[in-house]
Amino acid sequence: MDLNGPALPPRPVAQSQSEMSELILPNDTNTLGNLLGGRLMNFIDLVGAMAAFRHARSHVVTASMEHIDFIAPVHVGDLLILKSSVNRAFKTSMEVGVKVWVENALAGTHHHVASAYLTFVAIDPQGRRVPVPPLQTETADEKRRFEDAGRRREIREAEARRRHIPKFQPART
Ligand SMILES: CC(C)(COP(=O)(O)OP(=O)(O)OC[C@H]1O[C@@H](n2cnc3c(N)ncnc32)[C@H](O)[C@@H]1OP(=O)(O)O)[C@@H](O)C(=O)NCCC(=O)NCCS
Repeated sequence: MDLNGPALPPRPVAQSQSEMSELILPNDTNTLGNLLGGRLMNFIDLVGAMAAFRHARSHVVTASMEHIDFIAPVHVGDLLILKSSVNRAFKTSMEVGVKVWVENALAGTHHHVASAYLTFVAIDPQGRRVPVPPLQTETADEKRRFEDAGRRREIREAEARRRHIPKFQPART
């Protein structure tokens, strides 16, 4: 597919926002009955992919998961609520933010337990990268996340150049 083809129409953030809930069972936990970090990362990857898949309307792969904060432990029997939202769409990639809460269903309260940023890349069934629609931001929070995602991408690319990752080096003339 042509990566420089005609521009795709923008898609609003709300159209791809996703949510998932999980009851934490003993198989998900360590010997103290706390949710395993890797299991939580798996849930975060899944709910993040849902938002990217909906935005791109194509297959997606996880390119990176970065800046994951484990803020509070999650225990066996907890009800986990995960929400994902596309922060910014670039050419073939999208940054998705994921926020995770534990819901106390008896008290009707929530507390924040984790957050993460992930980048997904849209691909066709043959695994070739495909363009994604631009993101249409509407609320003040969506606009702030959009700007922040741009800054994170600049920092990521500068860091990759510093570490001499070949694909991030400027082309030789
Ligand atoms: C992600 C992947 C498709 C990128 O392909 P690539 O040929 O290296 O592509 P490029 O370097 O040209 O980058 C393509 C896009 O991905 C982004 N990207 C690539 N690596 C990235 C990373 N580590 N973090 C964030 N974004 C990344 C680039 O910024 C670029 O975005 P843009 O098109 O929106 O400008 C490829 O590395 C891949 O297939 N990785 C394995 C994915 C996978 O299997 N995930 C599951 C792991 S279990």
